[in-house]
Amino acid sequence: DERVRVALLGCGTVGSEVTRVLLDEADELAARVGAPVELAGIAVRRPDKHPELPQELLTNDAGALVESDVDIVVELIGGIEPVRGWLLTALRKGRSVVTANKALLSEHSAELAEAADLSGADLYYEASVAGAIPLLRPLRESLAGDRITRVMGIVNGTTNYILSAMDATGAGYAETLDEASRLGYAEADPTADVDGYDAASKAAILASLAFHTRVTASDVHREGIAGITASDIAAARLLNRTVKLLAICERVTADDGTESVSARVHPVMIPRSHQLAGVNGAFNAVYVEADAAGELMFYGQGAGGAPTASAVLGDLVAAARNRVAGGRGPRESAHAALPVRPMGQT
Ligand code: NDP
Ligand code: HSE
Repeated sequence: DERVRVALLGCGTVGSEVTRVLLDEADELAARVGAPVELAGIAVRRPDKHPELPQELLTNDAGALVESDVDIVVELIGGIEPVRGWLLTALRKGRSVVTANKALLSEHSAELAEAADLSGADLYYEASVAGAIPLLRPLRESLAGDRITRVMGIVNGTTNYILSAMDATGAGYAETLDEASRLGYAEADPTADVDGYDAASKAAILASLAFHTRVTASDVHREGIAGITASDIAAARLLNRTVKLLAICERVTADDGTESVSARVHPVMIPRSHQLAGVNGAFNAVYVEADAAGELMFYGQGAGGAPTASAVLGDLVAAARNRVAGGRGPRESAHAALPVRPMGQT
């Protein structure tokens, strides 16, 4: 049977865009993969809230869908439990997993990668950091032969949307956050965005891939934007600066030559002449510095249904091609080579 059967867990902001493409562009996807990609089921919390979806595909039992006869599980629910258990089951059964779940990955990527390695399944998560921007694949693959020294930039669309609006119009913090939620940028609990947890999760994922080690979200020094007021933004403006929430991941060399990794997230007043000052709305931008490559900049839409679905579908095509052609996606570095610097020491 040449079909690639896909289980979709979650059909909200991102999942609904993925579903639309799987249903409407099935022929094109089949041509790209080399076999039909069939949506085998869609798990949601409340099937009755989804009259727009093919009813025969809907279930509220994600666990049973994962156990059914599928090749790839695409997880777009979010949060750690119960999703962690479902994805471990999927990987242990040899199903490939595609996920956008940075909260889960930034705490449990070692366990998930190990399960994938044991069964030979794929684990792809391009959408978990910086939405549509191809960033993790370059770190995992294209730059794997170089020595990355720094990854730094704007990785949370919601806070960047809020800070940009406050800067442009003097708008208040609360009304702009509501707008970011309405547009599908914010997490289900938007304190994850404004208090910097989401950016810290992404910093952990970036640092782990860039420095071939394991950094978890709790290793990342974190400060959000909840304390930034309209007068802070106005003061920054007087200094010809603006405020951005940055994630900064660095390879640090001590005086005795030993190396470690540091990761932090906090608001920074940056000169308006800096390229990051021009990154507005839900856009993200990330600089990568490497010994041989020098400086690279990645820029694009960092949040929202369609941009995030682009990254999810890219991973899905990669995983499906591997199913059809017998290949495997990139493995994680199996070792934790570089120690992580204790939080607060930068
Ligand atoms: P939404 O809140 O819009 O959608 C979540 C979906 O999961 C809903 O369909 C919901 O069902 C379903 N769901 C929740 N709990 C369960 C459960 N126990 N069993 C089955 N289904 C369940 O989230 P998003 O689409 O915004 O985000 C999904 C993931 O993608 C998250 O990990 C998020 O961090 C990540 N992400 C989101 C981005 C964005 O811009 N929105 C960007 C990058 C990553 P129901 O519809 O019935 O409520
Ligand atoms: N809430 C996240 C953000 C979604 O605003 O960046 C994209 O990961």
